Amino acid sequence: MNKKIKNIISKKNKSKIVCLTAYSKNFAIEIDKHADIVLVGDSLASVLYNYQTTRKVTLSEMINHSKSVRLGVKKSLMVVDMPYNSYSTNISALKNAKKIIKETKCDAVKLEGGKKIISQINYLIRNKIPVMGHIGILPQTNVGKFKSKGKTLREKKQLIEDALLLQKKGVFAIVLECIKTSTARQITQILKIPTIGIGSSVYCDGQVLVTDDLIGLNDTNIKFVKRFINIRKYLNSGLKKFASEVKSKKYPLKKHSY
Ligand code: KIV
Repeated sequence: MNKKIKNIISKKNKSKIVCLTAYSKNFAIEIDKHADIVLVGDSLASVLYNYQTTRKVTLSEMINHSKSVRLGVKKSLMVVDMPYNSYSTNISALKNAKKIIKETKCDAVKLEGGKKIISQINYLIRNKIPVMGHIGILPQTNVGKFKSKGKTLREKKQLIEDALLLQKKGVFAIVLECIKTSTARQITQILKIPTIGIGSSVYCDGQVLVTDDLIGLNDTNIKFVKRFINIRKYLNSGLKKFASEVKSKKYPLKKHSY
């Protein structure tokens, strides 16, 4: 098993895992300093392209962004989301996962779903592709529906069953998206592998957020997002200064010219 993956698993019950999204090199360089896992999420659909759903993201888009991210990630585990329709069958899942790993040099791929896609996950893992799971809200499936999961007994049972099945097949960690606190807590307690929560409470083994959300670049009012900094303020102050110096001919000086 990849050393970085072993390291992530070994954090269970010891220290919290930090996971952040990145879509390009310069962001990845900074994120890599603070994260254990850098995820090239298909959330880039809405964050970068204004797509209504993540279903519109193509394999080429994921690969191109991941190639850029790879240039910035040195120490963290790099995981790439497999886009919608790229893992509908065992054969397509393996072909596309191999392509992603070969072209982007990422460490692992992430697929959304439990029992329904267990055949593809099993097939990937048997073929030595490291896989991260993702259950709860599944943006590729629950299009436009942002309803938290695990509130009814039936949903809770299904989520626990999915989590155990994913673990049994060999995923190294599972993202729990918008799962009720008590259910996320129970899943985390039952599993030997780490859970990475997003809107699923402090009881998960780690947390993931879309970086653009937490730095205030992407305007969102989703309940689980906390804005840790308003980066727009700093960006605008620098850009405003540039514009003003160009207009007043204060920039460029002689030393900036050939
Ligand atoms: O696409 C994404 O960024 C994700 C995370 C938010 C978990 O799947």
